[in-house]
Amino acid sequence: MDTIGIGLLGFGTVGRGVYRVLQQNRELITNRLGATVEVRKVLVRDPEKDRGIEVPPDLFTADPAAILTDPAVQIVVEVVGGIEAARRYVVEALTRGKSVVTANKDLLAAHGQELFAAAAATGADLFFEASVAGGIPIIKILKEALAGNRIIEVMGIVNGTTNYILTKMSEEGAAFETVLQEAQAKGYAEADPTSDVAGLDAARKIAILASIAFNSRIKLEDVYVEGITRVTPADIRYARELGYVVKLLGIARETPEGIEVRVHPALVPVAHPLAAVRDVFNAVFVRGDAVGDTMFYGRGAGELPTASAVVGDIIAAARNIRYQMRGTTGCTCFETKRVKPITA
Ligand code: NDP
Ligand code: HSE
Repeated sequence: MDTIGIGLLGFGTVGRGVYRVLQQNRELITNRLGATVEVRKVLVRDPEKDRGIEVPPDLFTADPAAILTDPAVQIVVEVVGGIEAARRYVVEALTRGKSVVTANKDLLAAHGQELFAAAAATGADLFFEASVAGGIPIIKILKEALAGNRIIEVMGIVNGTTNYILTKMSEEGAAFETVLQEAQAKGYAEADPTSDVAGLDAARKIAILASIAFNSRIKLEDVYVEGITRVTPADIRYARELGYVVKLLGIARETPEGIEVRVHPALVPVAHPLAAVRDVFNAVFVRGDAVGDTMFYGRGAGELPTASAVVGDIIAAARNIRYQMRGTTGCTCFETKRVKPITA
């Protein structure tokens, strides 16, 4: 039986989940793939830290070279987060011809073009399903299942932390700061939760979705962004009285004036399907010219839902290695389309 070596960069919420899923579903993954996936090393800042899970202690390293220069590591899984170190690791892995799986929307939104060029240069795969909407396989849906459609609109709740906060504020009258701390404790929030509450995380995600949906590079600067920090309990109460719920929406549509991309709190009628998306759940609505209206729902953050997306990508990358199909599912050839400027 073939063995495919994995190097895991990061063992926080997502890295731990990836390790868990690979262990608990080891047999079925091996059967589906016809090969064994083996985690060879795990990069962390502090290899001595108690991780609260049984892992052979010699698996941990603080030296990225132990993973990036190991010829037996064929797939590098980047779940360290942040931009600069992650960028160096991913570029080096791709340049060395290793396939990369990442959950890092900050990195993709800032340096996607460079990463895809590095992947194309060596024919390596770059998968990023977990970067948008956690466990919902929305990237594959847009890139593959709906690829025959002209996409008219992509809209949805793409940040779990803010949806959790708005749900608790609305249903339990909880205070913003208290619920944010809960979301952090549950592992939903970014290392710096300003990204979540200021709408930047959702903006990065909608930029990634819009780029794929409209086949054009949409940058973070192209997105109009407003977070939930100015939403008050009174706003939420009045909205309810009028038959609405407040949701942080990411919206991208192609208009005659250009592609319009925005993130802001919105009043959603209680009868609308997005109003029922509570807690850490996300939902993405896609309108295509052939398929019509579709909607995809699931947990948008957290250890195992995110690991589900990462492990799906690991299996896809491993399958491409096994059947010598690397580079066939990677980069989209983008056009450059006009972006419609939006002001508040
Ligand atoms: P955490 O902060 O929980 O974990 C980060 C891990 O990376 C830690 O193990 C840390 O080591 C390690 N690390 C960080 N920087 C370095 C570095 N420079 N060198 C070596 N190791 C480093 O992050 P998450 O798991 O929550 O998120 C990881 C990525 O996944 C981010 O890009 C995030 O946006 C994305 N993501 C997260 C989701 C979630 O629900 N949390 C959902 C979808 C995507 P140590 O443990 O020693 O500190
Ligand atoms: N902080 C992000 C969220 C993690 O809450 O949605 C998932 O990308």
